[in-house]
Amino acid sequence: MRHLLSAADLDAETAILVLDTAAELAAVTDRSVKKLPTLRGRTVVNLFFEDSTRTRISFEMAAKRLSADVINFAAKGSSVSKGESLKDTALTLEAMGADAVVIRHHASGAPHRLATAGWIAGAVVNAGDGTHEHPTQALLDAFTLRRHLRGGTGGLEGLRVTIVGDVLHSRVARSNVLLLATLGADVTLVAPPTLLPTGVHEWPCRVSYDIDAALPASDAVMMLRVQAERMHDAYFPSAREYSRAYGLDRDRLGALPDHAIVMHPGPMNRGMEISAEVADSDRAVMVEQVTNGVSVRMAVLYLLLGGSTGES
Ligand code: NCD
Repeated sequence: MRHLLSAADLDAETAILVLDTAAELAAVTDRSVKKLPTLRGRTVVNLFFEDSTRTRISFEMAAKRLSADVINFAAKGSSVSKGESLKDTALTLEAMGADAVVIRHHASGAPHRLATAGWIAGAVVNAGDGTHEHPTQALLDAFTLRRHLRGGTGGLEGLRVTIVGDVLHSRVARSNVLLLATLGADVTLVAPPTLLPTGVHEWPCRVSYDIDAALPASDAVMMLRVQAERMHDAYFPSAREYSRAYGLDRDRLGALPDHAIVMHPGPMNRGMEISAEVADSDRAVMVEQVTNGVSVRMAVLYLLLGGSTGES
């Protein structure tokens, strides 16, 4: 693995290697001294053209726990807001010797361009591109599912995962469907027809419009944020109508099997796709998802940068 651009880059064996490595690294996170010398002397650049809280901090913490030097580059406040192109930004980072570039960009395909255009020699990690993909989110979700529902080892064969909400604008949904299918899970997408992308019927999953039919047959339900900032039309009548038809509230939580867990990539719209009560319930694993994100990103950086040997 030279870059991580799409969840489709990962075959089952590689995905499981990442999850196993993350599990080993999670043990470090539980110690009082949380640092490994593995990436000492290497430089990781976080190149964020779009707002982010947890993903940026998570990558920063992951790189620091492996002793890498970390540069946080936010487009706001940089020469990007003076119109500097992705190419010139990349050439600058290359001149400064970045070993890995973690990129979040509003344009789908920007990480791919960065990885293939020949501007930089280092590894590229996609931290979310437009409405396209977010592979490390899918990995941390798979890690969380495996920990809770599969005893922390192996794949996810036969696991029933229901992903509900704004699939149309969700890079999390696309990456999850690809990775979970690779790991053998049985994925169902639930959304109103207006919030499903064209071509979704070719994705390796089932599609339904009925959340109440899907919940009783789910081992996990993943709620997606309604991405108002990407909506330029009316996709549903009102927020109230949306939560009534697709929101996870106390009654719907009761329809899940007792062992089922509730996930959300964050940030949540409490009261919209998920009620505050469900978000705070003991079935919700959002805080663990965030913790697991650090371990998974440590694993990705470790595997891409080849640890202390300097090989990639
Ligand atoms: C997601 C994202 O940015 O794609 N958040 C995240 O990375 N945890 C989902 C979202 O914004 O709704």
